Amino acid sequence: MPRIGLLTSGGDCQALNATMRGIVKTMINNAHEPVEIYGFKDGYQGLIYGRYDLMKPSDFSGILTRGGTILGTSRTPFKRLNTPEEDGVEKVPAMVKTYQKLRLDCLFMLGGNGSTKTANRLRKEDLNVIALPKTIDNDTFGTDLTFGFTSAVEVATRCIDDIHTTASSHGRVFVIEIMGHKVGWIPLYSAVAGGADVCLIPEIPYDIANVQAAIERRMEAGSRFTIVVVAEGAISKQDAALSKKEYKAKLAERTSPSIAYDLAHQIEQATGRETRVAIPGHTQRGGAPDAQDRIFASQCGVEAALGALEGEYGFMVAQRNGSMCRVPIEEVAGKLKYVDPQSDLVREARALGISFGDE
Ligand code: F6P
Repeated sequence: MPRIGLLTSGGDCQALNATMRGIVKTMINNAHEPVEIYGFKDGYQGLIYGRYDLMKPSDFSGILTRGGTILGTSRTPFKRLNTPEEDGVEKVPAMVKTYQKLRLDCLFMLGGNGSTKTANRLRKEDLNVIALPKTIDNDTFGTDLTFGFTSAVEVATRCIDDIHTTASSHGRVFVIEIMGHKVGWIPLYSAVAGGADVCLIPEIPYDIANVQAAIERRMEAGSRFTIVVVAEGAISKQDAALSKKEYKAKLAERTSPSIAYDLAHQIEQATGRETRVAIPGHTQRGGAPDAQDRIFASQCGVEAALGALEGEYGFMVAQRNGSMCRVPIEEVAGKLKYVDPQSDLVREARALGISFGDE
């Protein structure tokens, strides 16, 4: 009887349950024998401390549209794997022990970059691990798409849509801060989908003078309002020239809640125009997955399970150029996928008149 483990790690997203449903349905429909399913609670914490439930196939029914994760999740940073002094537990040996105690044939790990790094560590311990690319940020290296991304873009776009009406009524500048950690995928996609005027992303450092000029150009052309989308990880040209250490120290000194407030203040000072901030925050990870995410999550679940049934492990499920494939975990672990400033979408956004604040 195949024995499988499931865990969801890192920040949650809308399509985790849909993905697990895909794995379990595929296992059950194709294994030709009963499958024993262990669900680890709160990500790697469950594997480390032996907290899990023996689950029934019916636990995975009716969850295609349910956001979040029925298993719970947590962040267990890779660097904390070697901190037995915290609680006396050697984390990696503890995970290996739980896996062996349950005599698992395979562990399915639904997680982003940090979590995939840990999965790679477990692979080196000879555990049969399969990674599935979860994150709203779409920054997982080795795959064109991650599940969670399109749903987050949908939420961010709705926020930009909603802000349009109030910005227009009051003739204001709005700075909308969009998630994405160190990359600009959600901000870029939602800026295009929502018709933003300015889009500031980490991959293209901005100059506040260029942002000001873009706003003035728009107002002079007769617009009453301007929508500025700023990635939570956006950076000015000035700050980009600092060393990593200097920039970290600068961030530590920041007294405003986030970049959006600093930027709004700078814009108000520079243009004299009333400027407001809107931050959709964790709503970008909440609610039901959109249709595209449900499809992609299901595809990831199916491909991961089929791999396990074929006895292939140590890979991450990926989508490249529209096709599903398997990528060795060691090739992707610990690497980020950034927006290419020369990509078609950036070029097209510029053609639409969206300013990236770099010129
Ligand atoms: O990785 C997903 C993400 O939502 C990022 O976009 C964001 O920077 C981070 O997680 C927020 O993390 P937390 O939920 O721990 O505040």
